[in-house]
Amino acid sequence: MHIVHSVAELRKHLASAQHPAFVPTMGNLHAGHIALINQAKPLGDCIVASIFVNRLQFLPHEDFDSYPRTWENDCAQLKAAGCDVLFAPRENDLYPEPQVVKVHADPALADILEGHFRPGFFTGVSTVVMKLFMAVFAGKAQGSAVFGKKDYQQLLVIQQMVRQFALPITIQGAETCRDADGLALSSRNGYLNDSERAEALYLSIALRKLGQNAQVFANSLQAHLPDLEDKAIEGLRKRGWQPDYLTVRRRSDLRAPQTGDALVVLGAAKLGNTRLIDNLEI
Ligand code: PAJ
Repeated sequence: MHIVHSVAELRKHLASAQHPAFVPTMGNLHAGHIALINQAKPLGDCIVASIFVNRLQFLPHEDFDSYPRTWENDCAQLKAAGCDVLFAPRENDLYPEPQVVKVHADPALADILEGHFRPGFFTGVSTVVMKLFMAVFAGKAQGSAVFGKKDYQQLLVIQQMVRQFALPITIQGAETCRDADGLALSSRNGYLNDSERAEALYLSIALRKLGQNAQVFANSLQAHLPDLEDKAIEGLRKRGWQPDYLTVRRRSDLRAPQTGDALVVLGAAKLGNTRLIDNLEI
């Protein structure tokens, strides 16, 4: 596996690749990230991963400084998984000057849910992903990139960006990898102490229950969803969580669902100081 830090070095290593397959990450890799690498393998002739903790997508009070950085372990996992090129830019490589030109996603998609509770988050994500795409795919006729459904809204934002800018990149979604008990793997799970780790499972349990309740009222969703969502939020709050949202939306654009839409249940909640997100397609 070649490890490169600058865009120029990356270009050199990708010179002979015709169809790179790319997995962007912020490091602290776990089995969920490695599953994305495995999904990317048959999609291209050169498998590229990136590790870059993107300051632009963190609010001032969020965990940019303390975000876990586990370089040696990440490299070992990527190498074992068969990644060909690891792009790990330093901040100066990606942002040599203040990034004043940014990609603003559709507010109807990007200012709700995660974007509502983390203003500017999807501008930070879209901007860095566009820059990473340019670094990896510039000059290529076709490429692929894999994103996890764990970050469901992020996947939709990136798919829309690629479609609207007509980038020659195919975006694949990957299923969420979970621990044996059902907790979605996340770099932020490392912040949880033992009792929080046991409790953390209840986010996915609450989402599943909300999904089941929504299916009972499939023919009159609009009338019943507000109450069902409130009940789910209150249930988590009673267990000591600080929920941001638990909600049932239509999969295609995360708007309020109509009868017959394919649905996804999404949730975000803080347990102690750790903010967890999860979702379930139902
Ligand atoms: P990060 O949180 O490191 O996640 C990198 C990729 O791994 C994302 O596509 C995410 O959805 C996926 N992922 C995380 N946990 C997963 C799980 N349990 N199962 C399957 N896939 C999982 O998402 C980001 O980084 C950043 O926003 C980034 C896109 C790199 C831009 O900075």
